[in-house]
Amino acid sequence: MSDLSRLIRDRIRDVPDYPKPGILFKDITPLLADPGAFAAVTDELAGLHSVDKIVGIEARGFILAAPAAYKAGAGFVPMRKKGKLPAETLEASYDLEYGSATIEVHRDAFTPGERVLIVDDVLATGGTARAAVELVRRAGAEVVAVAVLMELSFLKGRDRLDGVELHPLVIV
Ligand code: PRP
Repeated sequence: MSDLSRLIRDRIRDVPDYPKPGILFKDITPLLADPGAFAAVTDELAGLHSVDKIVGIEARGFILAAPAAYKAGAGFVPMRKKGKLPAETLEASYDLEYGSATIEVHRDAFTPGERVLIVDDVLATGGTARAAVELVRRAGAEVVAVAVLMELSFLKGRDRLDGVELHPLVIV
């Protein structure tokens, strides 16, 4: 395991039965509270690829993507849960364990052909990341890769990304 992977692993707290019984929640707040670890994660994300825009997925993806965009000299684009963005949007829906969810991005968030990195905290079933990839493409831009702090490999979310490059900083 790399030093960065260990640094991250040691600072992600497992919270049992949150948000509901039987779910083991991966809490990244100890990592964010450690300035050295947060800086190391930001630097790693910023250095993965040369891109024009970095997308953060609401809500924890925002926290990671915004400083990475600043560091990389890229623009930051928020991808939000339905109803939160003020201007004209594109939307994509995906299945959750019970029911479905919809995320949106501003229709004019990208210039056609721009290179985009998508960032989130966790890849679980992959539904969110898959929807994010679809939205970037429908908006006319190119998805260079998806980066996550943690891939929960037993949920096989990677298989839903149809070959899009995935950069997990930690795999569990
Ligand atoms: C979590 C996580 C990812 C998504 C991963 O977000 O931050 O965005 O679920 O799950 P998936 O791979 O199964 O789609 P959540 O919906 O809890 O949103 P939040 O960050 O606003 O709490």
